[in-house]
Amino acid sequence: MKAKLLTGIAAAALAFGAGAAMADEDAELVINGEIEIVTKTAAPAHLDGALDEIMSGWRFRDDTTQAMQMDDFDNPAMLAVEDALEIWATADGSEGKSCMDCHGAAEDMAGVKPVYPKWNEAAGEVYTLQMQVNDCRENRMGAEPWKVDASDALAMEGLLSSVSRGMPMNVAIDGPAQSTWEQGKELYYTRTGQLDLSCATCHEQNYGNMIRADHLSMGMVNGFPTYRLKDSKLVGVQSRFKGCVRDTRAETYSPGSPEFIALELYVASRANGLSVEGPAVRN
Ligand code: HEC
Ligand code: HEC
Repeated sequence: MKAKLLTGIAAAALAFGAGAAMADEDAELVINGEIEIVTKTAAPAHLDGALDEIMSGWRFRDDTTQAMQMDDFDNPAMLAVEDALEIWATADGSEGKSCMDCHGAAEDMAGVKPVYPKWNEAAGEVYTLQMQVNDCRENRMGAEPWKVDASDALAMEGLLSSVSRGMPMNVAIDGPAQSTWEQGKELYYTRTGQLDLSCATCHEQNYGNMIRADHLSMGMVNGFPTYRLKDSKLVGVQSRFKGCVRDTRAETYSPGSPEFIALELYVASRANGLSVEGPAVRN
């Protein structure tokens, strides 16, 4: 791994350690002995050579954390998926309908997660998966929407992710989604905060290096929602962004803001080609 050093204030405040050997650089992820997960592949063309290859965050975790994702019995996130299966089948709201009444088995939603965030024609905006689920809750069930990254919202996203495991991420970046995607890209490369860091400083230029006690990944979202051992619960993409921005000592946007929706679309597009592996386990 390369060990590029930062200059100026960022280096002083947040030294990036020399790249620890990636112990499991060649480890392969197969879930339950049957779902093959692509955790490393050629970078999508829109990255224009900024990265040659993209790698899942799974590759940067230690053996123990990696192992927890290889079997659903060892993956603590699967408890939330079971909760979501119950929600899926339970009527809620003024229409007395459940998700299952309209959508059938949760497995029938395979292929949905890899294409989100996605342009929603009726709404005239890019929808994250959580926004789409809330649209169904409000407009088709007459139920209360869930707050961004609330536990039910994350459990449902985890369920929808779990049925798409092994399928390649494939979000569209052209057509009506393009301007949102460009806004997200701009945010990704903008340096902010006292430390003057952008997402790219850490996840594009310093992946593989150590920062504090953490092994920096490429900041991919194919494993979301992720079960963080540190928090003992599922964490959503936009809450993760918030934590990362806070670490740069910058003012941050809120989960659900137009900025974070755009950023989620852009960051998801950086993972195009990696398998959906959520709900993943991370430290
Ligand atoms: C009354 C019927 C109905 C109920 C109940 C319902 N949905 Fe939907 N849902 C739809 C319809 C119709 C669409 C397609 C709408 C569209 O494309 O705008 C849809 C679209 C979706 C999509 C996007 C699929 C895609 O291919 O992009 C997801 C995800 C989804 N629903 C999840 C849920 C979840 C989770 C629940 C329960 C919390 C739920 N829905 C409840 C009717 C329903
Ligand atoms: C100061 C360095 C730093 C900056 C700047 C930073 N992050 Fe992170 N990020 C981390 C660390 C450390 C982790 C946890 C270890 C890892 O997965 O890289 C992390 C994790 C992530 C993850 C989870 C990856 C996974 O597989 O679970 C995502 C997604 C992410 N960051 C996105 C972003 C985005 C988007 C930005 C810009 C808004 C950003 N990060 C800015 C340090 C940073």
